[in-house]
Amino acid sequence: MAQKRIFSGIKPTGRLHLGNYIGAIKQWVAMQNEGECFFCIVDLHAITVPQEPKILKEKIRELAALYLACGIDPEKSVIFVQSHNLDHPALAWILDCVASMGQLGRMTQYKSKSEELKGKVSVGLFNYPVLMAADILLYQTDLVPVGEDQIQHVELTRDLAERFNHRFGQIFKIPEHRIFKIGARVMSLQHPEKKMSKSDDDPNGTIDLLDQPDEIRRKIKVAVTDSGREILFREDKPAISNLLTIYSHLSGKSVEELEKKYQGKGYREFKDDLAEVVVEFLRPIQQRYTQIRQEKKYLDQVLATGLKKAQAISRRTMNQVYQAVGLG
Ligand code: TYM
Repeated sequence: MAQKRIFSGIKPTGRLHLGNYIGAIKQWVAMQNEGECFFCIVDLHAITVPQEPKILKEKIRELAALYLACGIDPEKSVIFVQSHNLDHPALAWILDCVASMGQLGRMTQYKSKSEELKGKVSVGLFNYPVLMAADILLYQTDLVPVGEDQIQHVELTRDLAERFNHRFGQIFKIPEHRIFKIGARVMSLQHPEKKMSKSDDDPNGTIDLLDQPDEIRRKIKVAVTDSGREILFREDKPAISNLLTIYSHLSGKSVEELEKKYQGKGYREFKDDLAEVVVEFLRPIQQRYTQIRQEKKYLDQVLATGLKKAQAISRRTMNQVYQAVGLG
């Protein structure tokens, strides 16, 4: 049986946090043995909102090093930078000519981002989901492991692929998203009704993968809790449910086990233990990260090899697309 193709990516903006890890990267690490994986640093998506050029360049390398430090194995998976492979913007343009303004205008992320930007919206931001569709479709992807906020974009990708295939013949495989049942939406530690986000103004809302131990302990200590004392995963306890989600994912213990462990115990003990779980989980990731950042050549080589492997597949798709559309 043919191996499944798996594609996903993260934007090199802000600081990578536990939401990104649990929602996306943790799935990726596990899926490396399930199929042929492509993990991209989606820098062209990053510039849909203004970025400082020097910082962006640094962030691209930081993110690549974090992929490796978190356990993405370049022997098993293809790691590459989106802007290095021009097939991505080329296919995005062709898909732009298939997508409709109406459907892009309905994307919830676009709507909330453009509200935040108070109308100062680039055409790139509007087209963002089309570029994402191009990323996925170029590799004839079966599965897209993401957090919950990206489901709508994967659905749009399916729709564009179906529309294109209908018009030009069976070119694209129709992909599906893959999310965790619990942890697909990790919430802010300060506002448990909002998702943990790289662009959160309140630094206490997120735990970043490169946060130092004392910073992590402090953030967990000041994390908001719910009324009552019980440590239970329940709808009326969004803050504690979120902390339980993080605890469960990083410790490997189920939520039920944790509820039992903390029966009759207070928030204080629970939070102290959680802080140590997070610190110990991130310690080896941070150590590997520091080491990888010192080996500049190694990172360059991983990205160059990844690019070659990615292009070998994406070129094939582009040839088919050009033929089908009647280009060139
Ligand atoms: P980005 O960089 O915003 O987010 C990267 C991944 O992290 C997940 N995520 C979360 N998961 C759980 N809880 C959270 N609080 C949380 N915050 C973020 C996101 O769902 C995502 O999986 N559009 C994508 C990047 C992209 C992409 C692609 C993804 C571009 N092309 C092709 C998959 C396939 C994004 O916004 O990433």
